[in-house]
Amino acid sequence: MTHTPTVYVTREIPEVGLETLRERYEVVVRTEKLPPDQAEVRARLRKLDADGLVCLLSDDVDGDVLDASPDLSVVSTFSVGYDHIDLAAAAERGIAVGHTPGVLTETTADLTWALLLSCARRTVEAHAYVEAGEWEVWGPTLLTGADVHGSTLGIVGLGKIGTAVARRTAGFGMDVVYTGPNRKPGREAELGDVGVDATYVDRDRLLVDSDVVSLHVPLTQATEEWIGEAELRRMDDDAILLNTSRGGVVDTDALDTALERGWIGRAGLDVTDPEPLPAEHPLLRHAPERLVVTPHVGSASVGTRDRMAEMAAANVEAGIEGRELPHSALRDAGLK
Ligand code: DGY
Repeated sequence: MTHTPTVYVTREIPEVGLETLRERYEVVVRTEKLPPDQAEVRARLRKLDADGLVCLLSDDVDGDVLDASPDLSVVSTFSVGYDHIDLAAAAERGIAVGHTPGVLTETTADLTWALLLSCARRTVEAHAYVEAGEWEVWGPTLLTGADVHGSTLGIVGLGKIGTAVARRTAGFGMDVVYTGPNRKPGREAELGDVGVDATYVDRDRLLVDSDVVSLHVPLTQATEEWIGEAELRRMDDDAILLNTSRGGVVDTDALDTALERGWIGRAGLDVTDPEPLPAEHPLLRHAPERLVVTPHVGSASVGTRDRMAEMAAANVEAGIEGRELPHSALRDAGLK
């Protein structure tokens, strides 16, 4: 009798991905809303003798998890980010790791712009004002915000998402500066083709010159708390900080102080540290006047999430069949 491989899925993902997996494998989907802890994942993998694991960015996958099932050949994360997975440990054990790059670029750039416009034009605050019944009369200075057109956008990390965010400035007549470890002539050319002139500057120049600073770097040792007190103090006191990358790129306490003391104007966050951000977290006292927070929904369009599920399933299939993954995190991280 041939063995049907087993795949453990730590949370429900869009049906289109699960259907593909069910056609070939025994698929066990954990249906609880909250993520499992590591002990539960280890126990389930062990008990199922799982061949594949589909995880989310809220699952911490370390060496012990990878060792839980001797048959485990692939970990497939339903995310582009893989900072929650110990890639070196996976590479050592010969376990393939898949992720979902590229597909969420434009969707995340759209959400970044939603936060940008919300912060600049105070739309969330305005909505709360109307809802609270405070709209009694048209006012000459009522809820005045900042112009987006003609302002300067500073992109930290001109990768795929950073470039997609910058490309959208074409309709707003904005100046674009960017920073990162290296100049990116290819990205500059790509933006030049749509009439966006992106200038490479150092970190200090970007912080000083930008009306909006938008973060698009992965979370690594080099980018952890990239925005701290010193950086926030360098920014303009009207400037907007946007984070749609990873919460750990910003020092939350420093941001709290910056909003309190008026070192910057506003912040729009789709990712936070801690994440999820508890309703009683002190940072939320700045909302909605100085802060807009969304619950890590950068890639949350129906089409993109379906596509992510398909990619996650394709990575599992390749891993179990011993083929090169179509979207290998080990390859993309230079570990293979
Ligand atoms: C990712 O995929 O890494 C995003 O943060 C969520 O879609």
